Amino acid sequence: MRVDLAERGYDIDIGPGLLATVGGRVFETIGPSRATVVTDTNVGPLYLDRLLDTLSDTGIDGAAITVPAGEESKSVDGLIAIYDQLAERRHSRDEPIIALGGGVVGDLAGFAAATWLRGVPFVQCPTTLEADIDASVGGKTAINHPAGKNLVGAFHQPRLVLIDTDCLKTLAPRDFAAGLAESVKHAVIRDVPFLEWHEANATKIRSLNPESLTELVRRNCRIKADVVEGDEREERSEAVGRAALNFGHTIGHAIEAQAGYSLRHGEAVSLGMVAALDLSVRCRGLPDADRARVEGLLAALGLPVNSPVPLDVPDLLTRLGTDKKVRAARVRFVVTPRLGAVDWLVDPPLSDLEAAIARVA
Ligand SMILES: NC(=O)c1ccc[n+]([C@@H]2O[C@H](COP(=O)([O-])OP(=O)(O)OC[C@H]3O[C@@H](n4cnc5c(N)ncnc54)[C@H](O)[C@@H]3O)[C@@H](O)[C@H]2O)c1
Ligand SMILES: [Zn+2]
Repeated sequence: MRVDLAERGYDIDIGPGLLATVGGRVFETIGPSRATVVTDTNVGPLYLDRLLDTLSDTGIDGAAITVPAGEESKSVDGLIAIYDQLAERRHSRDEPIIALGGGVVGDLAGFAAATWLRGVPFVQCPTTLEADIDASVGGKTAINHPAGKNLVGAFHQPRLVLIDTDCLKTLAPRDFAAGLAESVKHAVIRDVPFLEWHEANATKIRSLNPESLTELVRRNCRIKADVVEGDEREERSEAVGRAALNFGHTIGHAIEAQAGYSLRHGEAVSLGMVAALDLSVRCRGLPDADRARVEGLLAALGLPVNSPVPLDVPDLLTRLGTDKKVRAARVRFVVTPRLGAVDWLVDPPLSDLEAAIARVA
C-alpha cells in the first residue's frame, strides 16, 4: 500500500511473516550499509534477532538500542540515551533508524530520526495494534514533557512501514483490544461498510485470524493514510481534516490523565467515543440507534463502555477547560452527525457535556 505524499510518499507492507523481509525492503528503498534498530525490553527478546538476521543477510550492518518498555522512555532522558548511542556508533546521515516496537518506540525512535543530524531515514516495524493502525502511519513523532504528553515532537515521515501481523500473537490481549478502539474510530469517522465488517468479524478478529488481521490493518492504514494525505500537518482548521482522528480523544485524553494511566489509551478512547457519541445524539441529531450500535460493537470487541475505575466528572470538566460562568465548554469536539461523517461541535452547553461524560463515569 502506498501513502501518497509527493516526495515524502512511502510504502506500507502488511501481512504475516514480514519481519523476514525487512533487510531486503530496507536495502531496496534506502540502500544503506549500516542501520540502527531501536526496540524495548519486551519486544527485543521476542523479535530483535530475527530483524538483525535479515539485515545482515542483506549485507546491512545492524546494531540495536534497547530502551526500557513503557511510556517513561518517551522522555528527554530516553531521547538523550539514544543520541549517546548514535554518537558512539557514529550513525551517519544516510543510515536509517528502524523502530521495532509499539507506539512508544515508534514515537521516540522517530523523533530521534527526525532530529539526529537534522534528520536521517526512518523505518517503522510496529508490533502492537495501536502502532500498526495508528502510530506508524502519518509521520507524527514525539516525546513527552512533564507538562504533558507529546509536547515535543516533529513531523518526520517514514521511508517504509513494514507491519508483520504475526507480532500481534504475543501482544497481551488487553493491549490488543485497546488497539481496536482506533479501528472503531476510523470506521465511525469515515467508513460505515468497515463498521459492518467489524460487526460481522468480531469473533475472528478477537481470535487473531490471520486473514482478518491483515484486512483489519490494511483497511485502517488506508483510512489513516487518506486522512493524512488530505491534511498532512493538521493545518485545515475550517474543515475537520486530520483532526477527525481526534474523535473520542478530547474526552478520552482527559479520562486517561485523570485515571493516572491505569487505563490503556484505547480504553480511555473507547470511553471518550461513547461520550462523543452521546454529544452527537444530544447536539447533532445522531440517531439513538446508531449510538447503541457503536456501543454494542465496542463491548463485543472487549472494550469498556462504562469506566472500570470511578471517574470524577467535575474534575474532567475542568480538565476540558469548561467555564461555568458562560455555562459552555470552551472546547471544540469532533462529533458525528451521522455514522461515517464528522463535524466540529464548538462550545456545547455545559449540561450536555456533563451528561455525556456522566454516561461513562
Ligand atoms: N505518532 C502517532 O501518530 C501516535 C498515534 C497513536 C499513539 N501514539 C503513541 O503510541 C504510544 C502507545 O503505543 P502502544 O499502545 O503501542 O504502547 P507501547 O509501545 O507501550 O506498547 C504496549 C506494551 O506492549 C509491549 N509490546 C509491544 N509489542 C509487543 C509484542 N508484539 N508482543 C508483546 N509485547 C509487546 C510493549 O513493550 C509495551 O509494554 C503512546 O505514547 C502514544 O502517544 C502515537
Ligand atoms: Zn489514539
